[in-house]
Amino acid sequence: MSSQSDSGVPMLQMRGITKHFPGVLASDQVDFDVRAGEVHTLLGENGAGKSTLMKILYGLYQQDEGDILLHGKPVSLTSPANAIAHGIGMIHQHFMLVPTLTVAENVSLGLKSTRGVLSDLKTVSKRITELSRTFGLHVYPDEYVWQLSVGERQRVEIIKALYRDASILILDEPTAVLTPSEVDDISLSSENLLMMDAVLCSSLIN
Ligand SMILES: Nc1ncnc2c1ncn2[C@@H]1O[C@H](COP(=O)(O)OP(=O)(O)OP(=O)(O)O)[C@@H](O)[C@H]1O
Ligand SMILES: [Mg+2]
Repeated sequence: MSSQSDSGVPMLQMRGITKHFPGVLASDQVDFDVRAGEVHTLLGENGAGKSTLMKILYGLYQQDEGDILLHGKPVSLTSPANAIAHGIGMIHQHFMLVPTLTVAENVSLGLKSTRGVLSDLKTVSKRITELSRTFGLHVYPDEYVWQLSVGERQRVEIIKALYRDASILILDEPTAVLTPSEVDDISLSSENLLMMDAVLCSSLIN
């Protein structure tokens, strides 16, 4: 997964990003560059605007002012589908999985190629197993999500983003929902996540 840009242009540039909500300036002229191979952590107290900035990058919110450039080219990220098409994946503070479905079924939800569901699920399962091995995530396609711990569910979300060819992975407060031992698991697997082109995390400080 290497897409080192030869020109030295950052893979992602956020320029002067401003976002207002009624009565709140959530993001004030934020500049933020990411180069291939980097891992960034956004630190800030409750309400500092971390999630807002990441949601803008994932197309969930639109900025009032400012530009986003990918590989030097301005992009308009108008929806998560659009962000995913540009190689941006996001793991939310609150997970978006369907507990009554298996891991493979969850990963296949929303994939364009899901036509013959059964044969597709086989393909999906195989790729999940490969990604799980590559990134050291210990995710198994046939398990039901309701049977998984919160930490395991988070890794399913990561696999879901990797499956969609995310080259920039956004993790919104990845440790907020985890137990201490699950936090240790995640910090181990973040070595594997360095294989991603870039990882952005947000983290709460009090
Ligand atoms: N959809 C929304 N509608 C109105 N106000 C919002 C919305 N989303 C965020 N805000 C406000 O914008 C500000 C920044 O919120 P944001 O969620 O980005 O902060 P955060 O740094 O992620 O905080 P936390 O650590 O609590 O997750 C806060 O004042 C919040 O109340
Ligand atoms: Mg937040």
